[in-house]
Amino acid sequence: MGVYQLIYQSVRTVDLDAKALRGIAAESAVRNAAKGITGVLLMQGDSILQVLEGPEDAVRSVYDTIAQDRRHHGCVILFARQTGRRSFDSWTMGFCEVDEDGVDHFRMTISALRARQMQVSKTTRKLAS
Ligand SMILES: Cc1cc2nc3c(=O)[nH]c(=O)nc-3n(C[C@H](O)[C@H](O)[C@H](O)COP(=O)(O)O)c2cc1C
Repeated sequence: MGVYQLIYQSVRTVDLDAKALRGIAAESAVRNAAKGITGVLLMQGDSILQVLEGPEDAVRSVYDTIAQDRRHHGCVILFARQTGRRSFDSWTMGFCEVDEDGVDHFRMTISALRARQMQVSKTTRKLAS
């Protein structure tokens, strides 16, 4: 069976610091495990990037809940597609704070995902027209 992968970006509120996010990731791991969802939660400065993967219905529904969570805002889906396999199959929700060394890579990942998403929507539009 295929795996649905959804990656979004958001902006954290001031109260949602690394400690609080680590707590969310730990709580989420339990809930996600029950739904067959795996992924990773990254924080860099004010930015959050989360990868959710698993059965499409479960991923979409957990994303809808997350997007309404007031502890962050400005959720933008960077990437959403069916894939052959999971990228984080041993993490029901890993957490990682990106340090100085990883900042460039974090930014590059976001712009690469944006570019790919634009490509995907271009192709989708073409198919629909
Ligand atoms: C940045 C961020 C990431 C989150 N990731 C998850 C997640 O992967 N899985 C999850 O169940 N809840 C996650 N949550 C928490 C949900 O928004 C929500 O509080 C939780 O699922 C409980 O929802 P409920 O009160 O409707 O049961 C996350 C919240 C934030 C702010």
